[in-house]
Amino acid sequence: MLDAVLTLLAAAWGAAIRLLIPEAQQLPVAALALVTLAAARFFASAPAAVCAIGPAVDASKVTRRPYPVYDISSSEAKKASFSKIIPILIDEACDELEQSYEVRPDEVAWIRNVLEYNVVGGKMNRGLMVVESGVLLFESQGTNATNDDLCRFAVLGWVIEMLQAWLLIADDIMDSSVTRRGRPCWYKRDGLGSAAINDAFLVEMILFKALRRHFGDRPEYSKLVDLVMETTLQTELGQLLDIKCDTAPLQAFTLDRWTAIVKYKTAFYSFYLPVAMAMVCAGLEERSEYDAAREILVVMGVYFQAQDDFLDAFGTPGQIGKIGTDIQDKKCGWLFVNAYHSMVDATQKKYLDKHYGNCSVGSKEEKKIKAMYKNIGLEAKYHAYEEASYAQIMQLKGSVSSVPWAVFETFLKKVYKRKK
Ligand code: IPE
Ligand code: IPE
Ligand code: MN
Ligand code: MN
Repeated sequence: MLDAVLTLLAAAWGAAIRLLIPEAQQLPVAALALVTLAAARFFASAPAAVCAIGPAVDASKVTRRPYPVYDISSSEAKKASFSKIIPILIDEACDELEQSYEVRPDEVAWIRNVLEYNVVGGKMNRGLMVVESGVLLFESQGTNATNDDLCRFAVLGWVIEMLQAWLLIADDIMDSSVTRRGRPCWYKRDGLGSAAINDAFLVEMILFKALRRHFGDRPEYSKLVDLVMETTLQTELGQLLDIKCDTAPLQAFTLDRWTAIVKYKTAFYSFYLPVAMAMVCAGLEERSEYDAAREILVVMGVYFQAQDDFLDAFGTPGQIGKIGTDIQDKKCGWLFVNAYHSMVDATQKKYLDKHYGNCSVGSKEEKKIKAMYKNIGLEAKYHAYEEASYAQIMQLKGSVSSVPWAVFETFLKKVYKRKK
């Protein structure tokens, strides 16, 4: 529409110049016309602040609190600065719920509690990586990230941590888990049960409110929203593949199926999303750059989930903050897939057929399956897999040009040989 109007305008200018202006003055007038058109185009493409059309929302009440000083001079400072952002986001969310959605004080307090309990307390790998990637990307483009840039990266980091929070609330219900981050799972608190599902949905939407509050008036806003939505869908499809294993025969638990599950349920949101968000902020537009980064980050994400599967059986609850349920839940996990198809004998296979997914956490059958995993040498196989994954990732060095390799290296360092 705008294009059509501008074209008509240009034609009119052209005709007017030829008819009305003496030949000697045609050139400066034409230049003036061009300048006018360029200005029209510039203003038309400048991002307009996103205006809410929801009847309850009064844009003047959507207020941002001032950003704090963001210090990245050491790894402790990085964590401390990142941690300063979430109370701000929680306060802002509570204010908005109260002022624009008529949420009453008791319910605001409930939502505050949901956020404080579920968003905070993780390792924050995903969130911190948005800031790390943003800084490195800006640096590679010859600019220093300003304090506001750093705080905005951190907001995006917490957006992912909120995504993580609601995914985990739901995941713990689906997996009948008991603890998370060393505390009871949210749905296990105060006899909450399935009512926790709505809390998961609320956190999901509050994440979009934070995104809008801090990026609504910026040119990258729509790309970020799209990225979060796409990644959420991928994760949910992964979770679907994961829970469908419940009714699938054990023969179907192949390495291929495992790879498909973990690529979708874990790799995209945990590894690609943080870096892709920073790439969007750095103004990268080439599709091929995103593809190249994704290829590396998906390998890392698959490796990360193999670690999670390994720790489910071999990590202590003290280390990992959760009690593993994969054997009880009949998960298509890295340990089972490797054991069942290539490492067990006929008797052991029969035992798995009978008891895998058919025993509870802490039962003698579950313990026996873990002992079997040990006896067949799965730990050594896992350690070899760790080395191979590391090598595979390092081989991809050089396949990306706009994203500095330090981004991938920093991420890999955070997770390589992790014990929690
Ligand atoms: C747990 O992720 C869910 C998986 C994708 C394996 P993390 O191990 O990163 O959990 P937190 O956020 O640090 O608690
Ligand atoms: C969960 O994978 C992945 C998502 C939350 C999307 P798991 O079910 O293995 O995660 P944990 O072990 O419960 O943390
Ligand atoms: Mn789970
Ligand atoms: Mn797990």
